[in-house]
Amino acid sequence: MNVLLIGGGGREHALAWKLMQSPQAGVVYCSPGNPGMRGVVTVPEGTLAELADFAVAHQVGLTMVGPEAPLCAGIVDEFRRRGLRIVGPDQYAAQLEGSKSFAKQFMQRHGLPTAASWHFTAEEPALACVRQRGAPLVVKADGLAAGKGVVVATTVAEAEAAVRACFGGAFGAAGASVLIEECLFGEEASIIALCDGKTIVPLATSQDHKRAGDGDTGPNTGGMGAYSPAPVVTPELEQVIDAQIMQPFLRGCQADGLDFRGVIYAGLMLTAQGPKVLEFNVRFGDPETQAILARLDSDLLEALVATADGRLAEVELVWSPKPAVCVVMASEGYPNKYRKGDPIRGIDAAEATGAVVFQAGTRIENGQTVTSGGRVLGVTALGQDIAEAVANAYQAVELISWPGAWYRRDIAHRALQRDKQR
Ligand code: AMP
Ligand code: GLY
Repeated sequence: MNVLLIGGGGREHALAWKLMQSPQAGVVYCSPGNPGMRGVVTVPEGTLAELADFAVAHQVGLTMVGPEAPLCAGIVDEFRRRGLRIVGPDQYAAQLEGSKSFAKQFMQRHGLPTAASWHFTAEEPALACVRQRGAPLVVKADGLAAGKGVVVATTVAEAEAAVRACFGGAFGAAGASVLIEECLFGEEASIIALCDGKTIVPLATSQDHKRAGDGDTGPNTGGMGAYSPAPVVTPELEQVIDAQIMQPFLRGCQADGLDFRGVIYAGLMLTAQGPKVLEFNVRFGDPETQAILARLDSDLLEALVATADGRLAEVELVWSPKPAVCVVMASEGYPNKYRKGDPIRGIDAAEATGAVVFQAGTRIENGQTVTSGGRVLGVTALGQDIAEAVANAYQAVELISWPGAWYRRDIAHRALQRDKQR
């Protein structure tokens, strides 16, 4: 079966790598793809209609969408209208990620645990709410803001500034509507699951590292590394998450008539009162996917086809017991303005250690792989235990270099800590 993958980052590289291993895979196309995707046929970006035309012309049996933007733009509606099989929520259901107020209302309606929140479409009442509630508070631009529209304010002044920034246009249209949320405390974890509208199948657990600096300090990023499994999510906690979040999510979709045959990602805060949902994404996480798929021993293509066809109940996912760690290597300056165009050395040497180097912000210039994005590579390795996986990933990372390359040195520190305590 020919496959079309949409996207070009590290997450899509990991998806492509895994799809290529499927005995059922024919040609794997990726639009726009990236230079690391060996054996994949890359396809230029196109409009939704052009991508659907491509899928028809190339007998694509399954399309998988990586990022949220095409889902929110209605790629699933376009493909299904044309009888094409695709994994992902339709445009209406994609609002679970695209609109924080839509997601909040969904959660409240269906009893999913989440932070208390107040929704505003004008600055003055939002500021009044901040002053009345006091700090700490979380201020969120309502729409898609590429992960940058959230401020965890520890003072009233900071919260006021965040409200003013939103209404002042700092996040474009996304800021014209603002959520103010109660601040939750605890450790974060992500649960990513396949959902076909009837059955929900969680993937292996994972945790990412959103902050730029070691010890989870500094500004938020797209994610500087990830590991799987996340030992903080014990088997008992997994059951609680299933009962309080995943099953109510599924029933909520059914009750609201949402067409959700795709990937649901719940970002959770594990509070003293139990797990609460911080956000939904309607896609795989990046870089969680790199760590998760490194551990998937069964056929990803079969599972995705079953998701699109509503046959997930028939599929069993098989995971390697070995933990996986993904360390993101970034360009100098990221997450602010960053350098581009530096030649990258050492990818082959790193892969010779057994690690997999998923590319994200790279391009080819004069036959050389050079940096072209903020998050450049996701170096991923397995180990007998988490300590060995960490050691294997960093051994590979240290073989790779370019001017200004940097990475966090403490990926998986929480899992290592828990391992030591056992
Ligand atoms: P979001 O995009 O909504 O997941 O928010 C991004 C990050 O902001 C999360 O990963 C959390 O670290 C933090 N965050 C979001 N909402 C809250 C909240 N209600 N309380 C504490 N931290 C939060
Ligand atoms: N790593 C966080 C995300 O993909 O949204």
